[in-house]
Amino acid sequence: MTKNPQQPEVNIGLVGHVDHGKTTLVQALSGSWTDQHSEEMKRGISIRLGYADATFRQIPGADAPECYTVEEETEDGEETDVLRTVSFVDAPGHETLMATMLSGAAIMDGAILLVSATEDVPQAQTAEHLMALDIIGIENIVIAQNKVDLVDRERALDNYEQIKEFVEGTVAEDAPIVPISAQQEVNLDLLIEAIEEEIPTPDRDETEDSRMFVARSFDINRPGTTWDGLMGGVVGGSVVAGKLEEGDELELRPGREVDEEGQTEWRSITTEVRSLQAGGNMVDEVRPGGLCGVGTGLDPSFTKGDALAGQVAGEPGTLPPTREQFTMDVELLDRVVGGEEDEGIDEISTGEPLMLTVGTATTVGAVTSARSGEAEVSLKRPVCAAEGAKIAINRRVGARWRLIGIGTLK
Ligand code: GTP
Repeated sequence: MTKNPQQPEVNIGLVGHVDHGKTTLVQALSGSWTDQHSEEMKRGISIRLGYADATFRQIPGADAPECYTVEEETEDGEETDVLRTVSFVDAPGHETLMATMLSGAAIMDGAILLVSATEDVPQAQTAEHLMALDIIGIENIVIAQNKVDLVDRERALDNYEQIKEFVEGTVAEDAPIVPISAQQEVNLDLLIEAIEEEIPTPDRDETEDSRMFVARSFDINRPGTTWDGLMGGVVGGSVVAGKLEEGDELELRPGREVDEEGQTEWRSITTEVRSLQAGGNMVDEVRPGGLCGVGTGLDPSFTKGDALAGQVAGEPGTLPPTREQFTMDVELLDRVVGGEEDEGIDEISTGEPLMLTVGTATTVGAVTSARSGEAEVSLKRPVCAAEGAKIAINRRVGARWRLIGIGTLK
């Protein structure tokens, strides 16, 4: 991974339809490729959330937008000034992976909606992802009209009009539309300028209790490592409040399922922060914003293969409760988005299974009681969430889960 001079201070989601160029754009801006899993490489899609950091820079004395760059030096060897380091959350565009996209949305401060100029607008996931941004409340959006190298001027303008029409009345109505070619690295300066203007770093309060949403977790040991060389488990995600420091005690919820004398229960896990990584560097502390990796004292078998993805971490005793069931206020969408054709949405009924995304956690729940505007669910896997948390509600329609509404935890 390229080293960045600063910690990332803002998370920017990359959303849009499959193959519209999210991964290519992240690579062009950050020099790293987010599709790291070999299975993903084979299938050519981002199965799990990938992330990469990039540092935006400015050529001293140059005019906007030409001054914006990601290069450390100009062609003449002049050093560029650092503006800020950002983290990209590269969400998958494949239709069955909507839930992962939503878990990513929980840690996004803004988003770039990638739309390919080579296809009609909107493609299914373009519509669905925009709806998700709307629901999760992400308002700082830049639209990148990608692959303009593949179309003529007339087609590009037609496509631009289609985008304009499509975003009318949505959260992206006033978002700038920047024509780019991620692959040919055309107009990236204009795109950086738009991101700098539209997606500012939010104000944060470092004195609050620390809170981290875990999006990934890993066992970083090579197979065959002996116990004396073993590194503790690593969790990756975003600090959303307070700050984490090396040596801090850390509680993770819901933690893990413990089986004792035939009784199972979820118990939170407590460990310590042994190392911190942000922006590709080892650091002593991580402040809110950006994505980070936390080396812990946990047995790496606890963290292997994203086992702790979806959990919440923070100072022991300060986390929201672990919930195996909850009641939520429900607001249904008018119609199913991203479907082949427009379908209406029936009320939620008692007994039906729902897939729920809360923070970075995705879990399946059975509806134990449904009333108009409210539902009570019992979860297969508990979540750690505070009152007022937003919940993306998905229902199985045909062969896949579709977003049908948004809940608010009561
Ligand atoms: P998923 O991760 O599967 O959701 O796709 P993605 O949106 O990340 O798309 P990806 O970056 O993998 O790009 C898909 C294909 O389009 C690749 O073959 C890219 O090389 C190509 N591509 C991306 N951007 C451009 C562009 O600006 N111009 C051209 N000509 N091709 C592009």
